[in-house]
Amino acid sequence: MIEATAPGKIILFGEHAVVYGRPAIAVPVADLQAKATLSPADPGTGFRIIAPDLGRDYSLAQAGPDDPLAVIVQATLRRLGQADLPEATLHISSTIPLGRGLGSGAAISTAITRAIAQFFNQPLAPTEISALVFEVEKLYHGTPSGIDNTVVAFAQPVYFIKGRPIQRMRVSQPLTLVVGDTGVVAPTHTVVGDLRRRWQAEPERYEGYFDEVGAIVNQARAAIEQGNLGQMAIGELMNENQELLETLGVSSPALDRLIEAAREAGALGAKLSGAGWGGNMIALAWPDQAAAIAQALTEAGAVQVITTQTAKNQ
Ligand code: MEV
Repeated sequence: MIEATAPGKIILFGEHAVVYGRPAIAVPVADLQAKATLSPADPGTGFRIIAPDLGRDYSLAQAGPDDPLAVIVQATLRRLGQADLPEATLHISSTIPLGRGLGSGAAISTAITRAIAQFFNQPLAPTEISALVFEVEKLYHGTPSGIDNTVVAFAQPVYFIKGRPIQRMRVSQPLTLVVGDTGVVAPTHTVVGDLRRRWQAEPERYEGYFDEVGAIVNQARAAIEQGNLGQMAIGELMNENQELLETLGVSSPALDRLIEAAREAGALGAKLSGAGWGGNMIALAWPDQAAAIAQALTEAGAVQVITTQTAKNQ
């Protein structure tokens, strides 16, 4: 049996503006994982996909043309030059909440691609995995920047600009993040599409906002690379980024409530993470304040709270 995993992700800075060519920063979340196992099956069984979290158990041969699991399986088999479907059972599970901006879709696709590549003993480089996963992301997110598949496939903190090779980030001091879930599911393509219409109506105004976000991202990169000394600055920059996200119209009352609660409980800074209108917010905390912030988020209505530390990689 082959087993492969992929982490969830958190966008620290620059969501939405990244779709318009500005930089963004994202980190993998090792505490949240998607897992794909692939086991050989008896001849005649075909390729079966079992995803209990999604309530699915079916044969690849019966999958519709836009079934996301089938699409990544077929794209991977094509990339590996495997013309015949293997007789195998693919089992998928994930601890990443679905549709909440934590990269569940990209992580599931990445784990599947890795499992199939290992099954055939044809390892794929992260760049190749990321490119395959991006094809699936495009089917579901409309005009994705590619940041989700990149951070998840490389499992490294990234400074990302659409269409450019990845730049790994040095995180000299781990960041403690408290992640609060509003419980509201807002599809990324809906939020991205709505902002696109506003940008089309007033391009100059929105390009100006995106430039401001880009400038924050660059300052944040320098602060993250500085380590401990930079943490106050990182928090302040998160607050500034959130203000612009509110101006862009992608925050929501539920997100604002959690962000406010985190700040009042001592967060160094807080903002939404991902597409917005729901999903998750993140708060940067000194490690000894994380529990109090988590408690405040729960009291303010978060349906799930996760405390995680970004890996240090110098
Ligand atoms: C979604 O995780 C991040 C967005 O910037 C969309 C994208 O980059 O494709 C909102």
